[in-house]
Amino acid sequence: MAYHQKFAPCLTSSGIYLSKFQVQKKAYFCEVWCKMSSPGPVGAHSDEDSNHVIRSLVQKSQEARNQAYCPYSNFRVGAAVLTSDEIVFTGCNVENASYPAGLCAERTAISKAVSEGHTSFKAIAIASDLKDDFIFPCGVCRQFMREFGLEWDIYPTKSDGSYQRMTLDELLPHSFGPDDLRPK
Ligand code: THU
Repeated sequence: MAYHQKFAPCLTSSGIYLSKFQVQKKAYFCEVWCKMSSPGPVGAHSDEDSNHVIRSLVQKSQEARNQAYCPYSNFRVGAAVLTSDEIVFTGCNVENASYPAGLCAERTAISKAVSEGHTSFKAIAIASDLKDDFIFPCGVCRQFMREFGLEWDIYPTKSDGSYQRMTLDELLPHSFGPDDLRPK
């Protein structure tokens, strides 16, 4: 299939418009993630594939960090969230003269995804300028993420792009979520 046909802008089944660039990104993440999660002998998907996806996500979070609006703290943060259908949404922190009104990068990225119809996530990478420490999500962001399940990966990073993988359950044990509101 010709390149321009393969990556033509399209409407998804849920009615979301994807630009040519988004279609291309989706195809890339889909291909690598499918390989990673396909059944088969151990090692059928290589660590190289999985590392490549995560490295791309980390890079996106670092690019998003460049957009940080943080005139009060000067602490730049970026986040990139990978949806279950392999679309990446990015976000940065957006501060406000009325300090508590500011928003963290993670919640910006997740809200962008949710507002475009995506509520199922595979992973989120978080970037800051910290050289020696990983940037971990704040408590409010952990609870915000938890709304969308416990089964997804959080990648705190250092400014050199190194990362560690954590689950939400590790970051927010004994959490309160949507199921707890339903009568038992
Ligand atoms: N911040 C984030 O965006 N994400 C985090 O996980 C931690 C903190 C932002 C909020 C504020 O704009 C700045 O970093 C300093 O707290």
